[in-house]
Parts: sequence; structure tokens; C-alpha cells
Amino acid sequence: MSEERAKVEAALAAFAADFEQFSGLDLDGGLADAETRLREVGDLKVRHTGKKSAMAETKKLIGRVAAEERGAFGQLVQSAEKEIIEKIGAIESRLNAHIANARLEAERIDVTLPGRRPRTGHLHLITILRQRVEDIFVSMGYAIEDDREIETDYYNFEALNIPEGHPARESQDTFYTTSGLALRSQTSTVQIRAMERRGVPIRIIAPGKVFRRDTPDMTHVPMFHQIEGLCVDKGITMAHLKGTVTEWLRRLFGEDTVTRFRPSYFPFTEPSAEFDFSCFKCHGSGVFEGDRCRPCKGSGWIELGGSGMVHPNVLAGVGVDPKVYSGFAFGFGLDRMCGMMYSIDDIRHLFENDVRFMEQFR
Ligand code: DAH
Repeated sequence: MSEERAKVEAALAAFAADFEQFSGLDLDGGLADAETRLREVGDLKVRHTGKKSAMAETKKLIGRVAAEERGAFGQLVQSAEKEIIEKIGAIESRLNAHIANARLEAERIDVTLPGRRPRTGHLHLITILRQRVEDIFVSMGYAIEDDREIETDYYNFEALNIPEGHPARESQDTFYTTSGLALRSQTSTVQIRAMERRGVPIRIIAPGKVFRRDTPDMTHVPMFHQIEGLCVDKGITMAHLKGTVTEWLRRLFGEDTVTRFRPSYFPFTEPSAEFDFSCFKCHGSGVFEGDRCRPCKGSGWIELGGSGMVHPNVLAGVGVDPKVYSGFAFGFGLDRMCGMMYSIDDIRHLFENDVRFMEQFR
């Protein structure tokens, strides 16, 4: 039996040598490392307790030892196997516990932390105001026209009764391309384009960007926004112009809004008028909370835009007979209006796109 006993001891010794690698098991290597170690223990288990292991071989010897020694040898084999299984089991459970913990830790969320707020975008203030004005005009039966920002001299000036050398060109110097085109200096260009496209009668507004060669300051930027209006039909008079302008301003600023038309000059209208409206803040008194009202600078009036009866030359230029048709047009800027309505003292803020500024106006 000493031979068989030696085999059991050899199997134990081989296990002990192999198992040595797990003696001072250090679990600081993280989750992936622990998982590798667990696979290694699994392989070791197969090597020392599997069907082809030395331990399995010793079991086959039980039947061969002398009958009176068989019981003792059987116990020896059993206890040796038990020792191996227990040692492996201990390491496995340590590794499993560590892995479970590490996974839990990795997936853990602190429910007391504030949530991540999604940063939702919003429309630009100019767009918001433009859409409010558009809604008003659409409800009055106007169509919205969108057109190009790069124009020919013809649409920006000629067709609007501003021939070469006309002094009105001076105040509307813009940016030119080398091929003779220019960035439009006014949305009035769309009056011509729309009449060419749609003919008359016509009722449109044309919002859009316009450009002028200006040095930026608190009240000037080289790119700004206008809304143009045009209504041409049989029998259109100045009364329609006044009624229309007054109506949309009332819808925007309130029922008590009053408008004022001052005679003026524009090449593409005759007669022409600038239009003002009673200040939305002081309602025309010029005084707000005991102080000089700011948007209207104490005058009670806010100057907004230009208007007039479409010049016969403009109508004739697009093939409309001015003896049969007449119309009115108007145009105004959105940017200064925005500045006034929201007390923005420097309109450049509108285009610097600092979200901390823009977020205030949704
Ligand atoms: N286009 C003019 C400008 O930019 C504004 C304007 C004045 C438009 C009178 C009009 C109008 O339609 O009738 O200064």
C-alpha cells in the first residue's frame, strides 16, 4: 500500500505546487483581472479533480489495495480530494464575491445626484419676432415671400426707380461681388421679384436679411433684418396702407396702439411716408414710472419704417398698368425693434450668439 499512498501524496504535492499561484491572492487588479483569475482556478480544478487528473487515477487504485487496508486507503483518497476541492472552492468564492462586488460598484448610480439637464435649443429672438409678425400678416391674407440675398443692380436699385447716380444709392452702399452682383441692401427687391413671378393682384410680406456697408456700433450692424410688405390691386389707396399698418401694430403691441404717418421720400413710392407708433411702454405719454420713457426717449412715439403708394414707374417696370392698378408698400427693420422691445441696448448682442444672452429670450 505504500506505493499507492505515495501516489496520493504525489497528487497532493502536485496540486500544492500548482495552487501556490493563488496563495497571496491580491484582488487589486480590477474586475477584468479577477475574471481572468477565476478562469485560471477553473482550469486548475479540471487539472486536479477532473477525469484525467492524478487524483482520479488514485481512486482507481482503491480496488487494488489489500482488502484489510482498503478502508483506510479509501479514506485517505477521499480526504485528499476533499482538501483539494475545499481549497479551490475557497478561492473561487473569494473571486466570485469580489467580481460581484466590482460589477455592482461599476454599475452603481447615486440616485441623490441631480439629473443631467438636457440642453434644449430654442429659436433666435429675431426669428421669434419675425414669426409673430408673419402670423399676423398671414391671418390678414398675405403670403410670405422668401427670396435671394445676392442680387443684381437691377432688382436692388433700377427696378425700384433708383437709377445710376441717384443719391438714394449713397445711403445703401453694400457689399459687391467681383462679377457685378451685390448683397441686397433692402428687401424691397422682393416687391419686383414677387410681382414678376405672381403678377397682380398681390398681397405679400417678405422677411429677410439685408446688408449695408456700416461700421458696427450699438445701433448698426452690416447685416440686419427687414420685413417688406406689398399690396397691389385695383382701387388700393393710402387709407388701405394706414389701416393695414395700424392693424398689425395693434395686434403686436395692443389695441390702444396709435400710428402716425409723416411725409417722407422714397424713390419707389409716391407719395411716401414714414410711420411711427405710440410707444408700447408709456402708451404715448413719454413718461414711464415717473422717468423719461426709454424706448421712445420720452417722445411717446417710436419710428419704425418707411411706406407709400407704389410708384407708377415700379408698376410699369414689371408690366403692370398703373392706370388700372395701384398699391402700397412698406418696409421696416426687425433688429432695432427687437432691441427696443426687449431693452437690448446694443444690437450687436443679437449676433454674437452668446447662449447666456440668447437664452433669456425664448
Ligand atoms: N427699403 C427701405 C429701406 O430699406 C424701406 C422702405 C421704405 C420700404 C418705403 C418700402 C417703402 O416698401 O414703401 O430704407
